[in-house]
Amino acid sequence: MCGIVGYVGKRPARELLLAGLKKLEYRGYDSAGISLIADDHIDAVRAVGNLSALEAKLGANAAGSADGAGDGAVAVAERAATTGIGHTRWATHGRVSEENAHPHYDTDDQVHVVVNGIVENYMTLKRRLSDDGSDFTSETDAEVIAHLIASHYDGELAAAVRAAFAELEGHFAFVAMSVREPKTLVAARRECPLVVGRGEGEQFIASAVPAFLAQTRTVQQVENGEIVVLRPRGVEFQTVSGDPIARETEQVDWDEDTAEKGGYETFMLKEIHEQADTVAETIADRVARGTGVDLDEPGALDEALFVGVDRIVVVACGTSYHAGLIGRYAIEEWARLPVEMEIASEYRYRNPVVGEGDLVIGISQSGETADTLAAMRTARQRGAKVLAITNVMGSQITRDSDGVLFTRAGLEIGVAATKTFVCQVAAIYLLGLRLAELRGSLPPERIATLVGELGRLPHCIEETLASVGTPVAQIAEDHWRDEFFLYLGRHVGLPVALEGALKLKEISYIATDAYAAGEMKHGPIALLGDRTPVVCVATDSPVLEKMISNMQEVRARGAHVIAITTAASAHIADQVEVAIPVPAIDWMLQPIVAVVPLQLLAYEIAKRRGLNVDQPRNLAKTVTVE
Ligand code: AGP
Repeated sequence: MCGIVGYVGKRPARELLLAGLKKLEYRGYDSAGISLIADDHIDAVRAVGNLSALEAKLGANAAGSADGAGDGAVAVAERAATTGIGHTRWATHGRVSEENAHPHYDTDDQVHVVVNGIVENYMTLKRRLSDDGSDFTSETDAEVIAHLIASHYDGELAAAVRAAFAELEGHFAFVAMSVREPKTLVAARRECPLVVGRGEGEQFIASAVPAFLAQTRTVQQVENGEIVVLRPRGVEFQTVSGDPIARETEQVDWDEDTAEKGGYETFMLKEIHEQADTVAETIADRVARGTGVDLDEPGALDEALFVGVDRIVVVACGTSYHAGLIGRYAIEEWARLPVEMEIASEYRYRNPVVGEGDLVIGISQSGETADTLAAMRTARQRGAKVLAITNVMGSQITRDSDGVLFTRAGLEIGVAATKTFVCQVAAIYLLGLRLAELRGSLPPERIATLVGELGRLPHCIEETLASVGTPVAQIAEDHWRDEFFLYLGRHVGLPVALEGALKLKEISYIATDAYAAGEMKHGPIALLGDRTPVVCVATDSPVLEKMISNMQEVRARGAHVIAITTAASAHIADQVEVAIPVPAIDWMLQPIVAVVPLQLLAYEIAKRRGLNVDQPRNLAKTVTVE
């Protein structure tokens, strides 16, 4: 995820901003930049690559090198500016390039901004601002904010930011500064995090505390929908109408390591808790019309291909394979296209029957998994069109495909995939709905309903995270010493069971098996003993009653049934050892919500076993070898 840092005060801003950005490196980024104001000038310097590339550019230009970075870099490097903003970018809209790196600025170079998140209505705003004479220089959605603020500027940056904020849709956080108010930063938050760091005669603002932790531990949280005005002497919080808001200060006692994890004890736990935001980012502007899906974005597959496709083949490994399994149900149900699921390492050596008319989808969060890439190449060589679903811009998979659909989960550090999984599933839902639109296989009203349900997903994830902690911790307490867990599911509940079992296996080293519940009596039932924990995905679906029968069979063998339920299955609560209720959503979308307690269960058990959940033994985050 991108990183923001801003400083206004009395010390040289450039060093403080660079130091702050370094502390945000753990979030992952592909380019970086800073803007500084001094002597009635505002200048930006941006560079692709890591922060040393940015530093080199600043240094080289300060020394008078003619490497083409422009006068701005010279000025930034040389001025003793005490106001500035900085950014590390993880590309989502637009390629990794210097033009797309932040800060962005308006046509007259008066207003500079750094932005995290997504502006959903940027196309509409961009058209209007362009018609009014704005000259856009990047492919990003973020740039629109600089032009919009400039268009509202009438001598007071805070007022211009409030007016712009009222027009922006999406979820984002940004910090703006204007050359005409050199001692002011104005920030705004809608969903994406922002926090203020308070100092004596100086103030900081950042997307996360580590950016200024070495300077101050006195913080003020920026809440959703708020505008913040920072000046060296103090900080004002405002509503979007300009009314003042009182905000307490807090003392942060985290060490640097905890701060990097946003206060969570591990990256995996942090990433589990980021899932609502990352799903929101992944669907954001793609459902902005409210009634349909728009996947027409740079690098996307030519949609004409969707109409002519006869069959879809999904190739992937591990968790990404499970995401594909969910996608199969959705695409077959909504778009009425046959979907075949293939484990990439098997497919590549199978002499598969594939060619023209086939759309092969490779799913890989890293975009570097050797087997997935090889399977995609095999299919492409035989004439199939290949679509990549990945989280990493510039990864190999993006070069080995005819089009890409990006998830927007930000960098995932925990080896066990969590937020990238739910974003993959969200991306496949979008694809399934778009296919259905193009092929006319679902009535527009049904598509509109499903788009509405997609929009509810982030809230349902939040609700789940807020409610399942206690029952999950209790199950972990009761079962962390057990040596075997069985997971059962049907229909879309089956990939959820598979993913839950994989998570537990990966990080707790407990043997797990996951089965289609209907298959249980064909073998795995022999494994059931007196205390065997059996995790059942029993959320509402057309096969719920069948699932309940399977659970009764499990209970009859004395095993412990742990059921993930929704309102429709609430009546089974007294027939199972433990029920973990999650909010109900359209049953096809339920996996994204149902998997959350299973991720947490794996986490809580691994923690009780004293294991390193972020780096489980023998596993690598990116598997670039066979
Ligand atoms: C998931 O928790 C695992 N780390 C693993 O199964 C992973 O999903 C698999 O290696 C595929 O990785 P990819 O998505 O980067 O291709």
